[in-house]
Amino acid sequence: MRIIFVGDIFGKPGRAVVRELLPDLVRSRAIDLVIANGENAAGGFGITPALVEELLETGIEVITTGNHVWDKRELIEYFNMAQGNPYSPARRVLRPANYPAGTPGWGLYEGQTQDGVPYAVINLQGRVFMGSNEDPFRVADDLLKQVQAKVILVDFHAEATSEKIALGWHLDGRVTALLGTHTHVPTADERVLPNGTAYQTDVGMTGPYDSVIGVTKETILQKFLTNMPVRFEPATGDVRFCAAVIDCDPATGRASSIERLMINESVMQPEAQRR
Ligand SMILES: [Fe+2]
Ligand SMILES: [Fe+2]
Repeated sequence: MRIIFVGDIFGKPGRAVVRELLPDLVRSRAIDLVIANGENAAGGFGITPALVEELLETGIEVITTGNHVWDKRELIEYFNMAQGNPYSPARRVLRPANYPAGTPGWGLYEGQTQDGVPYAVINLQGRVFMGSNEDPFRVADDLLKQVQAKVILVDFHAEATSEKIALGWHLDGRVTALLGTHTHVPTADERVLPNGTAYQTDVGMTGPYDSVIGVTKETILQKFLTNMPVRFEPATGDVRFCAAVIDCDPATGRASSIERLMINESVMQPEAQRR
């Protein structure tokens, strides 16, 4: 079974490159399941219900998020309206599971692939250099007690590499893959851990790299140079598609390989390394 996880889709350029590349990749690489982080889909800040549906139409089954989840307030109502309706598309959007109890939305999705393989997706957020939330390690332990599926993907949306690596070891052998998001910079440390969990500290952003993590470099430079408030504008140049492709055994959920993908819009050739 082959799964693709697409890193933080940033603004219109990110959405456009997903629309352009994802359906062909799914066909040519015989991908069974597509998951993507969409926390920056709306101009870099949050995601709207309309954009959720636009992304689901490209073949994405589950959209994870992170600290930007509430930037577009419509999402709160979208989650609230999906209460009691397991078939609402809003159920395919996750917010980190370790947010305070009672927060709108869900941090766990359980579904089946078209071939009938049960899978689960868990979204968690780190606590180092980020807002204080529940302990992602303990929340992961608790969620794993209730998940029946063998194929389990975790998006760990976190700032610190150490926290991400630590959770990778904590979950090794208990989930199919732990993929990091949030920094918008892909890391070259993809590997399958000894007990069968595919791991990458950060999958990287799907969006404009002629930028500072998606935002125009002029505005961010101004911010650092003057410390004055600036208006963040999404950048547009050097758009890249960043993802991880994981092969696993659907019967056990164990990963056999992870491949890092970075496809440059102008080249359209994957610079890939296989482990
Ligand atoms: Fe992000
Ligand atoms: Fe983030």
